[in-house]
Amino acid sequence: MKGLIIEKAKTLKEKPDMTKLGFGKYFTDHMFIMDYNANEGWHNKRIVPFGPITIHPASTVLHYGAEIFEGMKAYKTNDGYSLFRPYENAKRFNNSAERMCLPQVDEELFVEAVKELINVDYSWIPTSVGSSLYIRPFMFGNDETLGVHSVKNSTFIIILSPVGSYYAEGLNPVKIIIENTDVRAVRGGTGYAKCGGNYAASMRAGERAEKKGFTQVLWLDGVERKYIEEVGAMNVMFLIGDEVVTPSLTGSVLPGITRKSCLELLKDKGYKVSERLLSVDELIDAVESGKLLEAWGTGTAAVVSPIGQLTYKDKDHIVSNNKIGSLTQELYDELTGIQWGTREDKYNWCVKVKV
Ligand code: PLP
Ligand code: COI
Repeated sequence: MKGLIIEKAKTLKEKPDMTKLGFGKYFTDHMFIMDYNANEGWHNKRIVPFGPITIHPASTVLHYGAEIFEGMKAYKTNDGYSLFRPYENAKRFNNSAERMCLPQVDEELFVEAVKELINVDYSWIPTSVGSSLYIRPFMFGNDETLGVHSVKNSTFIIILSPVGSYYAEGLNPVKIIIENTDVRAVRGGTGYAKCGGNYAASMRAGERAEKKGFTQVLWLDGVERKYIEEVGAMNVMFLIGDEVVTPSLTGSVLPGITRKSCLELLKDKGYKVSERLLSVDELIDAVESGKLLEAWGTGTAAVVSPIGQLTYKDKDHIVSNNKIGSLTQELYDELTGIQWGTREDKYNWCVKVKV
């Protein structure tokens, strides 16, 4: 990358036990940073030792939450690593940036920066079953003023974290409670953008659910509290009879890359797939009449996560006998197979990088 300065860490960290990683607990030795202002554009591109950054107390992000991020993964291959659909992340990052009045990052620059950093911290890509290197690019507004205006200065950073399973349950079915008080996002708001504020707004419901023994919540739409939107921080899909139903992208739902990939795989396998509004009443009727055969969440972190129980208004509904359904398993196997390079990538989703 033109103008990139690499400052290597003087001492390298001791690596954690790569078979007990969990999610987002460990970070590699370096991080990528660059700065933006309107005159210079993106400049001061650097890879530096991982560590704290200093920030002005009036910085926009600390007061008005101007922050967006992405989540993607690298998988070790025989001679390097592969990235799963990284240009989709770059595109979504720019859609999020547009919504939050943050500057655009050229897609090539975004992907190049990821590669440059992974090349330096390559030895951190785990090889144990089910693990990968989680990549977290993020950007924040960094004007040193309390005025509420679109920002003129931004900072872009990439950090890397070797990860195993996202949920403690792993691939076991999770218990989900349907949330009918808080909402995650509203149409016209920022739901389709991957901005920090959406996650801050979701934590209260998540915490309430956890205290009651659930793994996460199923979100309903913010206008009528009627239509299903997402599950926790994942998209959601249901096999109802012979139809796979997933909520349409109405503006409040994050357009997941795993969601998009699952829909493409399912259509190719000949499934009837509908992106449509699905009301909570229709969903509960489908469970009670036995038509709901499987339910699962989709997202980069967990890939596919089966739902074994849906609780609505204090009534528990067991899904798929609280076991992973065969279609859910098939999707998990196919996607992770493509990602790990053990199944044919006929869609050319993986970008292979030699090291
Ligand atoms: N929905 C939300 C709110 C998310 O944070 C994520 C995670 O990135 C997803 C859905 C799934 O998106 P993807 O499949 O691109 O990881
Ligand atoms: C996902 O990758 O599915 C996520 O939701 C990641 C989360 C930590 C924001």
